[in-house]
Amino acid sequence: MSSSPLVLVTGANGFLGSHLTELLLSKGYRVRCMVRRTSDLTHIRHLPVEWAFADVLDGRGLYRVCEEVAAVCHCAALTRARDEETFYRVNAEGTERLAQACLDASPGLQRFLFVSSQAAAGPSRTPEDVKDEGDEPQPITWYGKSKWAAEKILRAMADRLPLVIVRPSAVFGPRDRDFLAYFAWVQRGLNLQLGKQVRRLSLIYVRDLVRLLALALESEAALGQTYFGCAYECSYAEFSAAVAHALGKRTRCIRLPEWVLPLLAFEARVQGWFTSRPPLLNPQRILDLQQPSWLCSAERARQELGFVPEYDLLTAVQETAHWYRENGWL
Ligand SMILES: NC(=O)c1ccc[n+]([C@@H]2O[C@H](COP(=O)([O-])OP(=O)(O)OC[C@H]3O[C@@H](n4cnc5c(N)ncnc54)[C@H](OP(=O)(O)O)[C@@H]3O)[C@@H](O)[C@H]2O)c1
Repeated sequence: MSSSPLVLVTGANGFLGSHLTELLLSKGYRVRCMVRRTSDLTHIRHLPVEWAFADVLDGRGLYRVCEEVAAVCHCAALTRARDEETFYRVNAEGTERLAQACLDASPGLQRFLFVSSQAAAGPSRTPEDVKDEGDEPQPITWYGKSKWAAEKILRAMADRLPLVIVRPSAVFGPRDRDFLAYFAWVQRGLNLQLGKQVRRLSLIYVRDLVRLLALALESEAALGQTYFGCAYECSYAEFSAAVAHALGKRTRCIRLPEWVLPLLAFEARVQGWFTSRPPLLNPQRILDLQQPSWLCSAERARQELGFVPEYDLLTAVQETAHWYRENGWL
């Protein structure tokens, strides 16, 4: 790319989008941050970026947001919603609206990077099964189905759209509120485990993930490809142990029987009636937790993009714990 191209980052105020915006600025790109009028800008307010306000739910303003951009990193999405239709309208139809606006407004667009999710591919079929990009996606949650629907919509536009798709596994790091719950339990001395079966998951530290996204944005080889974005594989028990080590805590293992899950799902549903956003432990999340494992392969990203994580699991968890404590989240 020529010097200082303009990159549009959607969802720029979110967990991933804010880290990506910082990385792109440090690499010398000009960045246009797309946010909503209601977005909390705490993490990006101070950055030297262009601001653009739009909501992918209605097309208003999207054409102007997309004008003159060399590349787009589409991070905006719903990761929790009350019903399947809401996921679909934002994550699939909203993505289509954005892609169409980019094609209309920026004929010179060089890259459209779609941040999808491992959830689009679905879980491992067995506790040890590691999915790769060649496997036919079999999403099980509303969220995963909406991301897979978005991928298919974008693929259908790929003759006009310079598309790259990255499907991150579970992401943790500073500013993330979902993994914060794990850290908070461990801080209280609790190591909560579900059932007797060892479940494993792929993970990536947010600072590694944004480096991978930058590689996908810049690499010629990436055009038209899909990559899983993951760095480590560990069991929930190993992750809790890493957090306990980082926090300097001894924990007591409490093993919840699997039959508790439907009860928790019911309680979460009732709780959800009284909150504006579905709680972290909602029935869809419980469906995630019931799967044998969530493993995916980092091999294609390593071979084609030269992606190697810079952080080992413990260092990444330590940095995250440090940030949570420094910022009063723990
Ligand atoms: N975190 C993970 O573990 C993980 C794993 C795999 C994939 N991903 C993907 O990574 C991306 C970023 O996720 P995240 O964890 O950073 O989530 P996040 O912190 O919740 O950020 C989501 C962003 O999307 C924006 N957004 C939501 N609805 C929108 C709409 N209708 N129009 C415009 N913007 C909208 C949000 O804006 P507001 O602040 O205004 O709501 C926010 O900026 C998503 O595409 C997600 O699917 C995340």
